[in-house]
Amino acid sequence: MIKACLFDLDGVVVDTAKYHYIAWKRLANELGIDLTEEENEELKGISRMQTLEIILTKGNLQNNFSEEEKAALAAKKNDWYREFVLKMDEKEVLPGVEDFLKVLQANNIRIGLGSASKNAATILEVTNMTAYFEVVIDGTKVTKSKPDPQTFLMGAEALGVDPSEAVVFEDSYKGLKAGLAGGFYTIGIGEERVLGEAHIVVEGVKDVTLATFEAFNK
Ligand code: BG6
Ligand code: MG
Repeated sequence: MIKACLFDLDGVVVDTAKYHYIAWKRLANELGIDLTEEENEELKGISRMQTLEIILTKGNLQNNFSEEEKAALAAKKNDWYREFVLKMDEKEVLPGVEDFLKVLQANNIRIGLGSASKNAATILEVTNMTAYFEVVIDGTKVTKSKPDPQTFLMGAEALGVDPSEAVVFEDSYKGLKAGLAGGFYTIGIGEERVLGEAHIVVEGVKDVTLATFEAFNK
């Protein structure tokens, strides 16, 4: 019996994954580093500072900046990213998400958010989605990044459910690994090629119904 659903935010509830990529690419290019969409897959789901480290390492620049300078680079990326975020509204909620959240509510299935982002509260606010999430575990609360299961385990605990009774929705490979490591059922949102290890892979939340969960009972 599924009692709760835990949703990643960026790329699952809203299409902010594209804004993260645009902002990181801008920063990388400014530093003379290329950043392809393929390479960006690896950056999904992890924290801002970890992402910066990966990009700097890719350009062999990891030792060229002090901690303060790195913080300033990350802040610059975040300012660019927030320019997109602050222009967002309800229309940027991905197809089917609100309808499905309403179905979950009507069936007493608890709803939580599990995101690495420190911008999660702002994004939920500007898209008018805050009220749907009983529990929000975000980048301001976690100490261990996905693929560590901490984000989702904290979410399950706050909702009072066992991982074996909950479904994690993830668009990133690292987030999917976090869900699997925590012992959750997982629904990959995106491509089979990236998320093939998930229990189920769909294109978007729009393709999920309560009947989808029946596969977990087998
Ligand atoms: C995750 C995204 O949800 O949040 C990552 O998949 C992002 O791409 C991370 O880097 C941290 O987000 P923020 O908003 O705190 O910079
Ligand atoms: Mg994501």
